[in-house]
Parts: sequence; C-alpha cells; structure tokens
Amino acid sequence: MRDLFEKIYRDKGPLGKWASQAEGYFVFPKLEGQISNRMKFQGKDVITWSINDYLGLANHPEIRKVDAEAGAAYGSAYPMGARMMSGHTALHEQLQEELAAFVNKESAYLLNFGYQGMVSTIDALVSKNDIIVYDVDSHACIIDGVRLHMGKRFTYKHNDVISLEKNLERATKMAEQTGGGILVISEGVFGMRGEQGILREIVALKEKYNFRFLVDDAHGFGTLGKTGAGAGEEQGVQDDIDVYFATFAKSMAGTGAFIAADQEIIDYLKYNLRSQMFAKSLQMQLVVGALKRLDMLRTMPELKNNLWNIVNALQTGLKERGFDIGTTQSCVTPVFLKGSIPEAMALVRDLRENYGIFCSIVVYPVVPKGIILLRMIPTATHTLQDVEETLVAFSAIRERLINGTYKRLSAAVTAAMGE
Ligand SMILES: Cc1ncc(COP(=O)(O)O)c(C=O)c1O
Repeated sequence: MRDLFEKIYRDKGPLGKWASQAEGYFVFPKLEGQISNRMKFQGKDVITWSINDYLGLANHPEIRKVDAEAGAAYGSAYPMGARMMSGHTALHEQLQEELAAFVNKESAYLLNFGYQGMVSTIDALVSKNDIIVYDVDSHACIIDGVRLHMGKRFTYKHNDVISLEKNLERATKMAEQTGGGILVISEGVFGMRGEQGILREIVALKEKYNFRFLVDDAHGFGTLGKTGAGAGEEQGVQDDIDVYFATFAKSMAGTGAFIAADQEIIDYLKYNLRSQMFAKSLQMQLVVGALKRLDMLRTMPELKNNLWNIVNALQTGLKERGFDIGTTQSCVTPVFLKGSIPEAMALVRDLRENYGIFCSIVVYPVVPKGIILLRMIPTATHTLQDVEETLVAFSAIRERLINGTYKRLSAAVTAAMGE
C-alpha cells in the first residue's frame, strides 16, 4: 500500500510545480499600502490593476470611519454562534431587507463567505432526483456545489444557448423518469474573461422547459444595471432569476455574501443552508460595514460612473492599440497574448519592475497552453493618467514579446522546467 502523501511529494500539481519560480512574486505577492489605484510591491510604486474594489470603497474615508466605529462598538467576535442558535441580530435582518430591496427580490439571506454560501445554496436547492445544468466555465464554488449533488448533472458549452437547450432536453427526459426538477446555473459575469452570462437567452427557454435559475453575480453586483443591481437588471431579466447570489468581496469591498429570492424560498434556505446552520454568523463589523456600503451604492451613482469612465478608457485604448481583449462585456478587462509560461513570467517582471504596472497573470491550465492572460480590474479610484501609463507600458511589452526578448530572458527557466 502507498503512503497517502506519496503523490504530493511526487507532483505538486499544474500550478504548484511553478512554486519555486513564482511564489512571492507571481503568486502570493505581497502588495503593501492602503488599497487603492497605486500601492507598493517589493518597495516600488505600482499601479494596481488586480484588486476587485470596483467602486473604490475599500479605502473610502466614510467606509473606513464606519468600519472603525463598528469595530470599536462590537469588537470582532460579536455575535457568537450560528444565526439559528445565538448569532442573529436586528442588523443582520436589516441588511437582508435592504439587500433584497436593492436587487428587487422579496427576501434575502446573508452568507458568511460567497464560496461556501454558493456551495451550500446548490446543496440545499437540489435533492437526488433533481438535475443540474450549468455552464462549463463556472466558478469553482459552483463546481464544488455541484460536486455535492447526489443526482445527475450536465454541463453546457460556455454561454452556448444551443448546447444549453440540448442539455435541457436531456435533463427534462431524465427528470420525468426520476420525478425531480431542473436547476440551471450561470454566472452574471464570468470573472476571468468578463463576458456576461447569456441570462436573457436562458430565461427565454423557460417558455419551453421547466427549470429554476440560479445566478452567481459576484462581478455584476454594483457594476452593472441602471441601479447597480447587476447583470439581471442590465439584461432586463432580474425577475426571472429565481435565486440571485452576490458576494461582498468585490463592489462592496468587504467580506460576506447573500442570496435573494422569493420569501418562501429564502425561508426554506434559512433552515437548510448547512454552511450557515453550522458556522458562525457574519460578524457585526462586516454587517454594519455592508449597510454603509450598500447605502453608498444606492446614493452615490458617481462611483459607478467613475468606474465605467475608467473601464471605457482602458478597454477602448487597448483595442485602439490592437490588443485582443476578447469578448468582455463588463469591467473585467482581459488582455490575451501568445507565449509560454516562462515568457509570461519575464513579461510580468518587466511590467512590474520597469513600468510600475501590477496586474494578475493567468496561464495554463486556467487558459489554453500558449496563451498568456493579463487580467485587469479597473476601479473607480483609477485615473486617466493611470490608464495612459498602462497603455504605453502594454505597447512596449508587446513589442518585446514579439521580438523575442522575453524568450531570451526566460531561456534558463524554460530549460529548468522542460517547457
Ligand atoms: C464568481 C464568483 N463567485 C463566488 C466567489 C466567492 O466569493 P467570496 O470571496 O465571498 O467567497 C467569487 C470570488 O470572490 C467569484 O468570483
């Protein structure tokens, strides 16, 4: 018999194998200073394009004040216990009511973290006779939620309504045999490449098929739609989303998440979400902080306007310079380049060290082999000057990628890794 750890000693996994070259710099980097458009990385000033603080609330003086006051008033322990037992407060309820009103649903329920919250929302919504149909490019929290499901599941091709319909036909036949129902899951915005989910097309299929629709709108909440209520509002189908999910980790610049739906569905979930029934309640400082953030989302449309001015300047500037930014329909701004992982490392080092630009780098297996994805997250705190400097830097690094500079610089790494 083998030692359980043997495989771990042998193979660190597709990303882990890069740890000795990447850790501390490309992965697990330590950004320092206050969260903003400009921070410090390894002692150097950098323009940061890798923080999901879309509306620039993380370090807004009013937010900092409320967070500090709530910390002083409640400490970081209050309330103790799970919501059901001893962790419930009037402020949790108030936040739920305000969130529900903001996303135009009857009711809402708080989740400690988006990830576990989504996992257990899926778990609670389906039983073994039910069928799940979900986008193949779904976030890990959806995939993990589906993994808990004891019944059948089908993926449909990313944002492909024909593939979805084929799978709905299969699922319908199967559900007729099992006596179950169907749950369709999409993201409101796919966070890697920035496309919106095809919510309108999915909802239109409700005329032909009987299913319920769950949307993870982590990146849409606060950034899309007239009032900031997200991708459903943007596409005019919010009412047809049966269960709406968003996290506080992005536009709300906090921690926690929520689901919103009809009252009866939330009443059910409240008693069946294992991640909330068997875990400590969202702490009060986060609840009070979220109430303040939500108030600012509602009353300060200039935050979203500033964000979109930057998004438009960045995305238009990149396109004008001939960069491939894929098919983004949101603030998420990907730049696709061709190159190996060692070349990507040399390129990002150049961007950070010589141009003071910090953005995330995404490589295989998240994107296909030979593709380098530089993923940029514009925020309301960026300036047009930041955009201009970034565009100049991007033109320079593309030139060096094409003329083989990074290939030469990365030769030693390439040889060592056998790439
Ligand atoms: C699409 C999506 N869903 C869920 C989550 C998880 O949310 P949280 O960070 O609150 O756990 C994230 C990342 O934050 C996300 O991008």
